[in-house]
Amino acid sequence: MAGLDGRVALVTGGASGLGRATCVALAARGVHAVAADIDEAGAAETVRRVQAAGGSAEAVRLDVTAGEDRTAVVGGLFERFGARFDILVNVAGIDRPGYLTDVDEAAYAQVFAVNCHGPVFLMQAFLNGYLQARTGDTEAEIFNVISISAVTVGSGAVAYNSSKAAFAKATEIFQTEVREFSHPCRIQGIMPAAMDTPMMEQWGIPPERMMDPGEVAAEIVHALGRPRGVLGQNLVFTPRVEYFPR
Ligand SMILES: NC(=O)c1ccc[n+]([C@@H]2O[C@H](COP(=O)([O-])OP(=O)(O)OC[C@H]3O[C@@H](n4cnc5c(N)ncnc54)[C@H](O)[C@@H]3O)[C@@H](O)[C@H]2O)c1
Repeated sequence: MAGLDGRVALVTGGASGLGRATCVALAARGVHAVAADIDEAGAAETVRRVQAAGGSAEAVRLDVTAGEDRTAVVGGLFERFGARFDILVNVAGIDRPGYLTDVDEAAYAQVFAVNCHGPVFLMQAFLNGYLQARTGDTEAEIFNVISISAVTVGSGAVAYNSSKAAFAKATEIFQTEVREFSHPCRIQGIMPAAMDTPMMEQWGIPPERMMDPGEVAAEIVHALGRPRGVLGQNLVFTPRVEYFPR
């Protein structure tokens, strides 16, 4: 696997669930993990766990929906680390249920802001910053956590499923643009099925029907570490755990 040691990764949603597991897994490979979240206490706990395992991490407050936060956090990391900061993992996400007859407009907009709009413009800030910071022949990595919900239908989940479908499409479009403009950046994504994380508590699914977020984090780290090639930019599906209808 390609070297990850010594690189710096910004992981959104790093305070919980898959984001935390990704920080832990990346740090175990020698990456300095930046756990970015609106939940500052949770992000601090992630750092504590990484450090307890002998890894390197820091916590930062980042609301992915706030342009000023995105600019400040990404700019600050390039200032401190230069092009060593070359990994962005978009994990932060929210789910707000609602049906055609009652879906709340503000909640719908917030889901799109966190699950699609914010990550898209974080990708923009990251790539533009990397293009400026880059001095050698190196390449950056962007990894997007989408969801199998992007390609399935979930009654009562119009905001979540549609926002994930939009994020999947944005990911594919940016993969195409990266090739078209020969940007030094690989973009990959994953569409996990159900994972046993705090997000899923509202659905009452038995844990044995869900994946451990650590399994998905391992897939992410594997994808980030693998050599580039024809299949370098892809979307990975993990539908091995039964999808649950809503
Ligand atoms: N749990 C699942 O079954 C499942 C399945 C497929 C995909 N996903 C996706 O995986 C990702 C991680 O979800 P999880 O299951 O670990 O959920 P989680 O609720 O445990 O973690 C989500 C994290 O995102 C953070 N967050 C929310 N709004 C934010 C904002 N505006 N800015 C920054 N951080 C914010 C939360 O504070 C939380 O720490 C999400 O994108 C989710 O949609 C989850």
